[in-house]
Amino acid sequence: MDTIIEPFRIKSVEPIRLTSRAERESLIEEAHYNLFNLDADDVMIDLLTDSGTAAMSAAQWGGLMQGDESYAGSSSYHRFEAAVRELMLFEHIIPTHQGRAAERILMGIVADEDAIIPNNTHFDTTRANIEATGAEAVDLVIEEGHDPANMHPFKGNMDVDRLDDLLQDKADRIPMVMCTITNNSGGGQPVSLANLKAIKAVCGAHDVPLFLDACRFAENAYFIKMREDAYADWSVPDIVREMFSHADGMTMSAKKDALVNIGGWLALNDNAWAEAARNQLILTEGFPTYGGLAGRDLEAIAQGLKEIVREDYLAYRMASTRYLGQALTELGVPVVRPIGGHAVYIDAKTLLPHIPPLQYPGQALAVALYETGGIRGCEIGSVMFGRQPDGSEEPAAMELVRLAIPRRVYTQSHIDYVIECFEDIVERTRDLPSYTITHEPEQLRHFTAHFAPMDA
Ligand code: F0G
Repeated sequence: MDTIIEPFRIKSVEPIRLTSRAERESLIEEAHYNLFNLDADDVMIDLLTDSGTAAMSAAQWGGLMQGDESYAGSSSYHRFEAAVRELMLFEHIIPTHQGRAAERILMGIVADEDAIIPNNTHFDTTRANIEATGAEAVDLVIEEGHDPANMHPFKGNMDVDRLDDLLQDKADRIPMVMCTITNNSGGGQPVSLANLKAIKAVCGAHDVPLFLDACRFAENAYFIKMREDAYADWSVPDIVREMFSHADGMTMSAKKDALVNIGGWLALNDNAWAEAARNQLILTEGFPTYGGLAGRDLEAIAQGLKEIVREDYLAYRMASTRYLGQALTELGVPVVRPIGGHAVYIDAKTLLPHIPPLQYPGQALAVALYETGGIRGCEIGSVMFGRQPDGSEEPAAMELVRLAIPRRVYTQSHIDYVIECFEDIVERTRDLPSYTITHEPEQLRHFTAHFAPMDA
């Protein structure tokens, strides 16, 4: 059958407040054309992020009642630890309140002004936590990963030759290598097992540990099953175990592929680093058997990890995201291809050639999507990256709008509605206005900047 059906039924619903186009036009004007300023209640389909926005299952909600809130040695911690270790066989498993807390603790231990930390592409918070220690964050994704139209099946792969060159020259300054699965900043693109093995071989030759930034590990494993011949007959949990068997540690945001609204962890084999990490954890997050979480949160993660590696779920997840990407492609909307696991990234520079990069084509599209259908996406372009430390502006490498799909939240008819809004927009792309920034903070301006449409 071709119809994509959700492999779940809905037990509990949240109403969506339906708004009119006129209402949305005034709401976005009041929000100074910045989608971060909108109240969630004024958004109909919220595709701002797939992080912390999942719908939990009945078993997870049931698990919340089993939470053991003991300060030390809670049984919920033991269930959490066992569920993680079932998939990721690391010696030390340290809960944190979310992914960036694991990053901050890890970088506080391994990095300093002399350090260099390579990755395929560092996610913003990872880069920021590295740079906060004075260290340098280096991106080494393969060339194909920079080309939105290139159909390479594993565009998240790391350029192992460049990694080898870097290690040959500077291994003494490289305390660890990271690899992000899937590569969020590169369009949600997967990393192959062949590439992970090759990275590990190069790291091993220089005695440098490999850590995975594993937020979307299950989606990465399913891409391996679909696209890497040697693993076509493997179960997803076996592929997951194989992926992590090549790593010495991991950071995790449970807000993605653990199907919960808050949580994360740091896992690793090195005893000395683990001890230092637990000491840091006690200073800022909490006792090592709860991190920054409640016992009930650990229960929800333990159950979420069982559900996320189910093949019926992953097949539906990938099919649904691909369905949106393919429909947009058929409408002539240029998207980053192949379609990633958690999001569709639209190339607004190509869609809106009449808007120069520093008049923010991504923002123009994001605003049009909201006005047209109450859909909230996220600009990833010159608004986010254009402002330089000296206050000047440079166009970003790409002008993208990310439509990130929360897990198990929207149905296929919501996705069809998004597609219908694009049908409306492609008819009038030339009418979409450019934008100018009327107010901005010095850092991370995309969150709070004010915009105004420019006269044609
Ligand atoms: N690493 C990756 C690859 C991520 O995508 C994120 C978060 C983090 C680390 C940090 O995790 O939010 O739990 O602290 N990404 C979200 C997003 C925010 O919208 O892509 P966190």
